[in-house]
Amino acid sequence: MVVLGIESSCDETAAALVTAERRILADTIFAQVAEHTPYGGVVPEIAARAHLDHLDATIAAAMHQAGLGFAELDAVAVTGGPGLIGGVIVGVMMGKAIALAHVKPLIAVNHLEGHALTARLTDDVAFPYLLLLVSGGHCQLLVVEGVGRYRRLGATIDDAAGEAFDKAAKLMGLGFPGGPAIAAAAERATEPWPDLPRPMKGRPDCNFSFSGLKTALRQRVEALRAADAFDDAVRANLAAGFQQAVVECLIDRTSRALDRARADHPTLNALVIAGGVAANRHLRAALQRLADGAGIALIAPPARLCTDNAAMIAWAGIERLALGESSGFDFAPRPRWPL
Ligand code: KG4
Ligand code: ZN
Repeated sequence: MVVLGIESSCDETAAALVTAERRILADTIFAQVAEHTPYGGVVPEIAARAHLDHLDATIAAAMHQAGLGFAELDAVAVTGGPGLIGGVIVGVMMGKAIALAHVKPLIAVNHLEGHALTARLTDDVAFPYLLLLVSGGHCQLLVVEGVGRYRRLGATIDDAAGEAFDKAAKLMGLGFPGGPAIAAAAERATEPWPDLPRPMKGRPDCNFSFSGLKTALRQRVEALRAADAFDDAVRANLAAGFQQAVVECLIDRTSRALDRARADHPTLNALVIAGGVAANRHLRAALQRLADGAGIALIAPPARLCTDNAAMIAWAGIERLALGESSGFDFAPRPRWPL
């Protein structure tokens, strides 16, 4: 079985071909970095237009890479939400058109489910597992009990972790997207910056908060700028301190969730990480230490499959198809779609 996946919910225009045997035959991504860089963030209207401009060529490239024609597909899986609605509409219409013209089943996939099930594509991990989902739009801890069975242990009460990275990078003039920019700047740090807050650390729940950290950083940057002391070295140290603070918050909350998940599920199989922030090397190393200490496997898919991609959408479609599910052609794109 081979499924075409389409992803267009944010700023990556992506198409992939994946088999039920977990083979990724093609995985093509057009990243709209150049389109959004002048604005320091993703502009929804520009994203929608860029998806419209690039989606057909991206799908054609994936089909070419896999050496397949549309007639050979078994189904079309497309992100149906949540996300920037203009882009989601472009993807859903394209998915419907291909499925309709070639008489294939259509599966509208929840983007978050795509992230949540990626570890089953890369590592064949069995349910239940604890998922730390950290992206630009989402920051949650979920117990993944089965396909479509997600129990949320905690979530951010303000910004998502990736959003915090993006805003912090903008504040420090480090460019877009912020996560990789801050990670790169932090590599140049000569000393860590000790006194940025760690919001929610030690709290009994499993929620996150990053707005206090962002505010503390802004005040620090403003004071340094006013004193004409905001040079490259200071910026690198600040980036390292910020990254360290975010990682510590994520580890503290994940550790709490791990205890909780294991109390409910003594057979918990793994700690899994997904979403764009999961590409962060510092975070991965810290999570590995946490998992080692707790005696549980850490599953961290390759960075390319942690950030937005279409292979995860194709795979989630395969998981749904295996349960006998598909979507009607009346499926309406969903800007909001909680797991
Ligand atoms: O999952 P994703 O590609 O898109 C969303 O669905 O949001 O995640 C993008 C987010 C951005 O906020 C970006 O700054 C962050 O992931 N990110 C990183 C790194 N690479 C991407 N954050 C920290 N460190 C990284 N290396
Ligand atoms: Zn995502």
